[in-house]
Amino acid sequence: MKNSVYMTWAKHHASARYNLANSGILGCEPGDLPMTAGDLALNGPNHEGYAPLKEAIAAKYGVSADRVVPAQGTSMANFLAMATVLDRGDEVLIEQPTYDPLLAALKYLGAEIRRFPRSFENGYRIEPEELSRGITPRTRLVVATNPHNPSGVAMEPSAFERVGEIARAAGARVLLDEVYRDILFEEAPPVAASLGPQFITTGSLTKSYGLSGLRCGWILCDPDLAERARRLNDLFGAVGSMPSDALSVAAFRNLHLLEARTRSLIEPNRELVRRFLREHGDLLDCVVPPRSMIVFPRLRGRNDSDPLHDRLRLLETSIVPGRFFEAPRHFRLGFGVKTEDVAEGLQRLSQALRAQE
Ligand SMILES: Cc1ncc(COP(=O)(O)O)c(C=O)c1O
Repeated sequence: MKNSVYMTWAKHHASARYNLANSGILGCEPGDLPMTAGDLALNGPNHEGYAPLKEAIAAKYGVSADRVVPAQGTSMANFLAMATVLDRGDEVLIEQPTYDPLLAALKYLGAEIRRFPRSFENGYRIEPEELSRGITPRTRLVVATNPHNPSGVAMEPSAFERVGEIARAAGARVLLDEVYRDILFEEAPPVAASLGPQFITTGSLTKSYGLSGLRCGWILCDPDLAERARRLNDLFGAVGSMPSDALSVAAFRNLHLLEARTRSLIEPNRELVRRFLREHGDLLDCVVPPRSMIVFPRLRGRNDSDPLHDRLRLLETSIVPGRFFEAPRHFRLGFGVKTEDVAEGLQRLSQALRAQE
């Protein structure tokens, strides 16, 4: 099957009254984004991406507009970046655990896949030694998520340089999916693509801003690769969606408001989740990142989180079973939704956890 088992599951089985399976911030309502009639457009000059949008993305992330390739969400940005860099049979080194569609896209593209571990024991950090061990002269691309899906752990700023050096020495590029970056707020390091030509960043307005519906995504990379990605995109999207791109420009203009909304959701919820994890330390171990809207707890004394998931479904609550991240003892818990729903969902999770004792 040409698919991502996780994405198919997420589309059809993840939603619930108390949705702790969602990894992003609660979707915006129209009132969350100030818009005027002038922000709407049906058609317009969009052959190589809508220039005002490319400029807004470039300004936000500190790169020039010729390094921006718009794409439909981070999903298409990832696929397009990988398809641009890789030929069938090329070797790729990708983190484990990771976001399944990345792995599925690499399989679809016929890459020869190698893995490097991000382990619970090492706080899910990217260990340069592990990268060095996994990389070979045949590696064309290193792939990771930052912050990490599923653990929420963000790379330390010093790690970027080491990772870049290791990849450069092997003649490989590094694709960092930075879709969760902006929830680090003022602590967010520069996007990887601004650090050197071997880095490729992908991102979108989906996870940190609750604007999945706009499908506003991007690749940031060196200008030559960006041009190759645009030419390949002639086969896929060809042109962008003008209504969507025009509204995305409005979103960038109002990013400070969206950021404040995101912060107001995450901060109280993070405290709830931390307390929950402390109170359930007899049942769960967890790496708790200083800033995130997801965590990846590990069950104590159990090998599989599916039974917990099944019990929770009966309580109208969802989590993501760890098997979708090749780590069945774990589950992913997202807390970017309404605070009262997180509170109730956690209570139900507590009930389901205690019931299995
Ligand atoms: C790491 C990662 N990349 C990409 C996506 C999808 O992003 P988008 O909705 O912008 O395509 C997700 C969604 O869960 C994700 O976790």
